[in-house]
Amino acid sequence: MPEAPPDEAPALHVEEIDVTYGRALSALRSVSLTVPHGGVVALLGANGAGKTTLLRAVSGTLRLHRGAVTAGRIRYGGTVLDGRDPVAAVRAGVVQVPEGRRVFAGLTVDENLRTGGLGLSRRAPAQVREARERVLTLFPRLAERHRQAAGLLSGGEQQMLAIGRALMASPRLLLLDEPSLGLAPLMVERIAEVVREINAQGTAVLLVEQNAGMALSLADHAHVLEVGEVRLSGPAAELARTDAVRRLYLGETADGQGAA
Ligand SMILES: Nc1ncnc2c1ncn2[C@@H]1O[C@H](COP(=O)(O)OP(=O)(O)OP(=O)(O)O)[C@@H](O)[C@H]1O
Ligand SMILES: [Mg+2]
Repeated sequence: MPEAPPDEAPALHVEEIDVTYGRALSALRSVSLTVPHGGVVALLGANGAGKTTLLRAVSGTLRLHRGAVTAGRIRYGGTVLDGRDPVAAVRAGVVQVPEGRRVFAGLTVDENLRTGGLGLSRRAPAQVREARERVLTLFPRLAERHRQAAGLLSGGEQQMLAIGRALMASPRLLLLDEPSLGLAPLMVERIAEVVREINAQGTAVLLVEQNAGMALSLADHAHVLEVGEVRLSGPAAELARTDAVRRLYLGETADGQGAA
């Protein structure tokens, strides 16, 4: 297959991948999903289902965790991503926001932002300035605190910084790992707005969440992972109506009432 020209609208295709950690631990089995150019796709599932593992496989960070794609193929446009490193993914336009934020607590907000897109050394300073402007417009709170140490930010602000740092690489596909984790409802709503805005600016999003309500309200399409396998897939609105998703992930009881 020829390499797609860089400005052609690429889609992510994960095709029947198996992922193993170490020698034996099978974390994903025959998992497939597609994120179309400019789309939002949600990946739901309980703890340990393999959600983070899937994002690592796409972003080339699996090897850092002693994992490997042992079967199948990951393509982004014309670029094969399985078995590549994180720099290759970033260069292809695919950037992951890790679970748990992982901002550098001792560095300032600005310094954290500057670490975003470091694999893209050939970028002109004007491009970097433009990316920074975009981030600070999207997150006025970060603009106000740009000289402050990241460790002093609230959890929600750290999540914004983690997303902002990823946006510094001007991704065309953003991989978001549980951005709502541990945040108060108002902050979750704010993060949801930000994801909508990022998507409206043309960036596709693969959103991993345990907060199914938030994820399904944002996504066009969704998949449910269960112990390493895709159990359910479909349009987000349809999945939100299925009994299994309502009970397991939307906190409803069997009689259709919201749980306490
Ligand atoms: N570095 C690792 N080495 C060995 N096993 C791992 C490693 N990382 C994850 N696993 C295992 O792979 C499986 C999938 O884990 P993963 O972190 O992808 O799940 P998850 O769906 O993201 O869960 P959570 O919602 O808790 O974040 C689990 O059984 C986990 O114990
Ligand atoms: Mg995870």
